[in-house]
Amino acid sequence: MQNEFENTPPQRIYLDHNATTPLSSSLKEKWMELFELWGNPSSIHASSRPGKKHLRESRQKFAEFLGCSPLEIIFNSGASEGNNTILKSVWLERGLDRSEIMISQIEHPSVMKSAEYLKSLGAVLKLIPVSRDGALDLNFVRAEISNRTALISVMIANNETGTVFPIQELSQIAHAHGALMHSDCVQMPGKMKLDFNSLGVDYATFSAHKFYALKGTGIVFAKKSAPWIPLIHGGGQERSRRGGTENILGIASLGIVLDSFGQADRKILEMTRLRDLMEKMILEKIPRVTVTAQKSPRLSNTSSLIIDDADGETMLMSLDLKGFSVSTGAACSSGNPEPSPVLLALGLTRAEAQHSLRISLGWGTDESQIQKFVSTLTEVVEKLRALKKEEKQYAIS
Ligand SMILES: Cc1ncc(COP(=O)(O)O)c(C=O)c1O
Repeated sequence: MQNEFENTPPQRIYLDHNATTPLSSSLKEKWMELFELWGNPSSIHASSRPGKKHLRESRQKFAEFLGCSPLEIIFNSGASEGNNTILKSVWLERGLDRSEIMISQIEHPSVMKSAEYLKSLGAVLKLIPVSRDGALDLNFVRAEISNRTALISVMIANNETGTVFPIQELSQIAHAHGALMHSDCVQMPGKMKLDFNSLGVDYATFSAHKFYALKGTGIVFAKKSAPWIPLIHGGGQERSRRGGTENILGIASLGIVLDSFGQADRKILEMTRLRDLMEKMILEKIPRVTVTAQKSPRLSNTSSLIIDDADGETMLMSLDLKGFSVSTGAACSSGNPEPSPVLLALGLTRAEAQHSLRISLGWGTDESQIQKFVSTLTEVVEKLRALKKEEKQYAIS
């Protein structure tokens, strides 16, 4: 194995870390310990203790990572659940007095579809526009917010383009009008350096599989004062905020991975260096490529490219056959020939969006992988463009 965060087959180069990350190999080392965590943490007897201990420790470590109280941390199945719970919870608590919800045009489907569902129940949904360089229209927010607004929900950074949004300003605007503020922070841990408390949000959502831990583990930050209605009613787990026996293995994996977070700042700097180097090489070697929102504040690891005369799905499949994992947009829309709604919302044409490729680096990415990727991408694009040219000539003749 190459390094702790590159737990992938040696012949494959994984550059799709915004979809999910490989498991940290520290989990392999602790596997026997994890194997012992089968007891139900709600039981009174001794068999529950190893799990209870991990539950407590992981909660404490994540609270330290954010700089909040462990009481403000709620574990669940993932960020999709967290996003659903928050939107629906605020609507149930506040909807009668405040019927408006404001989200950005480029939220993850778990926010977008929850908001559309609430609209079908009577909520007024306001979509905050984004510009081609990925900037959020704060003037729209200032003009549209009122004492009817229950919640603003805007992600900290977009999973497809990597653009980062001004959450602190949005929290200030929301609070000045008595509204609550939520941020989907799934793409933040290990990819951007940030003082979480400075965001001033009432809610934030996270997902452990986006930072080297197991899938099926979500984390919600909910301020003590923030309204909360469980999406899943059941036992008294998570202080009765989320019913269901806890996913102890996933939660324990989160705590183990957080022990490596001392390296985060160094890893973020290195990913920025490699991403910038990769973009520079691609722009030098391949003509007619645009980097989406290149000049805007972006996550350290993400690059979204528009490559003229090269179809995104075909590039993805050709790269896959040559041992590279990348994406054309969000993982949940792969296999879907429709262009990315995020890129369309930025104002790209359908044709441009169909020529997109997303590359997202991770803590295990190194320079030799980037060199190999750029030279293979160059070959793939040259081949696709040559084929396209032949097709055109054939059509004319
Ligand atoms: C920004 C964002 N929000 C939410 C999610 C959903 O997370 P989960 O897989 O934990 O449900 C994702 C996953 O792709 C994401 O990128």
